[in-house]
Amino acid sequence: MSTYEELSERVARAIAQQIKVKSNSCLGLPTGHTPLGVYRHLSKWSREGQIDWSNVRCFALDDYLETDEKHTFHYFLDEHLYSHTNLPAANKFNPCMTDNYDALIAEHGGLDLTILGIGGNGHIAFNEPGTCARSWTHCTWLNQSTRLANQDSFQDLASVPTRGVTMGLATILESRWIVLMASGEKKKDIVERAFQGPVTVEVPASLLKQHAKTDVWTDFSADYSFPSGATQTARVSL
Ligand code: PGA
Repeated sequence: MSTYEELSERVARAIAQQIKVKSNSCLGLPTGHTPLGVYRHLSKWSREGQIDWSNVRCFALDDYLETDEKHTFHYFLDEHLYSHTNLPAANKFNPCMTDNYDALIAEHGGLDLTILGIGGNGHIAFNEPGTCARSWTHCTWLNQSTRLANQDSFQDLASVPTRGVTMGLATILESRWIVLMASGEKKKDIVERAFQGPVTVEVPASLLKQHAKTDVWTDFSADYSFPSGATQTARVSL
């Protein structure tokens, strides 16, 4: 059990450490409410010169289709993270900006660390319940619950996009290390369903239980690690 601040700092430290250990790391990065604290820490440390992003490659997990520039996840990542770092423009990748995101990720050596949030319906990135487990980057319709959860960034529900483009479940599961972060009691039930219940595409996050190196960090319950029993310190030399 920890606070949102502690959770944010923990995830930020994992990213900073990843970059320190491998300066040309490929990162999969989320948007949403949950990672804001992580980006605040990373931005501060970057402005202080503590993190060198010059060789890092950042891949947004997903983005909206058919929205104005200011509502894109590319804009979000620029505003909350990239603009505070020395990440070169050429190293900022977004699934809307290429025809074959998976090939691009592979060309760069694959994702080293992917940070995920979790939707109230168990989605990861925009992989909504029922998405094929072997899906690569694809366009998708957004569930109404997802649109409602994201409504506060828009004028009204009608303005929230109905479609997005997202890394697929297979794309995410190929990442060498995954950290899923969840904050707040409202995420407790879905985290329990995903990580204590059966593996099912109806709860896309549950597929992470089949991944070789996933950590689930929350501010409301004990951590989960997959494969079960492995500990973060055992896997990452800090
Ligand atoms: P949130 O979104 O961080 O805004 O709760 C998480 C998600 O939908 O993946």
